Amino acid sequence: MNARAARARIRRSVMAVGSRLGSHEWTRRLLYAMKNRLTFEDLYQHDRMLADRVRMGAYRRAIARHVQPGDVVVDLGTGTGILAFLAARAGARLVHAIEHGETIEHARAVARANGITNIVFHRTHSTRFELPERADIILHEQIGDALFDERVVEHVADLRRRVLKPGGRILPSRLELFIEPVQLAEGFESPFLWEENVDGISFRVLEAIAAAQPHRYRYRVFRPFPHGHFLCRPEAVVRTNLATAVPADLPRRVTYEREIVAGGRLDGFCVYFRAGFDDQHWFTNSPLERPTSWATPFLRISPRPVEPGEQIRFTLDAGNLQAPSTWAWRLE
Ligand SMILES: C[S@@+](CC[C@H](N)C(=O)[O-])C[C@H]1O[C@@H](n2cnc3c(N)ncnc32)[C@H](O)[C@@H]1O
Repeated sequence: MNARAARARIRRSVMAVGSRLGSHEWTRRLLYAMKNRLTFEDLYQHDRMLADRVRMGAYRRAIARHVQPGDVVVDLGTGTGILAFLAARAGARLVHAIEHGETIEHARAVARANGITNIVFHRTHSTRFELPERADIILHEQIGDALFDERVVEHVADLRRRVLKPGGRILPSRLELFIEPVQLAEGFESPFLWEENVDGISFRVLEAIAAAQPHRYRYRVFRPFPHGHFLCRPEAVVRTNLATAVPADLPRRVTYEREIVAGGRLDGFCVYFRAGFDDQHWFTNSPLERPTSWATPFLRISPRPVEPGEQIRFTLDAGNLQAPSTWAWRLE
């Protein structure tokens, strides 16, 4: 078995154990850290992120605008080091690049090869990172497909409290989560198995299995998202500012009532985000915008026809908004 296959096998085992033990927050956090490290030790993840023009363009512009000569910058989760390099080039006096995975060795090599000397690399988990002085900026890209699922609020809040100067900046700091009712593109409709009738063969008898279906059957992740159209006017359901947020601020219930403005078939809910550095600099993985390296989670429901003017009421209950495996949703 080669190293990549071995990592994939470990990742699957970790996830399988995780789904059994994951009902406890402490276990969930530990398993998440292991899974995250293994995921980002796959260099392909970094290929995709570096090649993502939307993501890189947004960070490049924001760093050029916010990093001032002389700043001390902490790069949380440096990966290949790219954000640390951009900050160093923008004039930072010193960049502390933190990474818990072995990719940090690649980042070190790239820094050496490019003659970048004002970065100190720390191979550690951010919660164990300590800094004798206070930093001007925390830079991070801890944004998950479901926005909070890379535990950005937890990790940034911890560093903010321990290492950021009062009034220091966090890039990006404004996060918005969207959960939009959507019709999938033609050819991607996918009723649940028990709703199928193929050539007169009904699968209705399987309805009894519905309740036992694992979360991963209802929570799908698309890359790219087969977008048909949004049925309502998009509106953020959670808005967070990392300048002050702590995990306890994240809601455990998201609920809304909305009017259908474009009728069709309601297939489920598309999850995406907007992340902002300031009033002008934002990026998003909205299916309406240019594709990015993020995948798009999709919350399945039984498809149903909807008419313009109709009101729909959506509820998401989350044991922990950072852990999509704890999410349950319904349409009333
Ligand atoms: C989404 S990648 C971003 C990498 C890089 N900053 C970039 O923009 O290309 C997140 C990186 O953070 C690392 N990471 C995640 N959580 C961390 C933590 N709490 N402490 C240290 N590293 C972490 C992961 O291993 C991964 O390399």
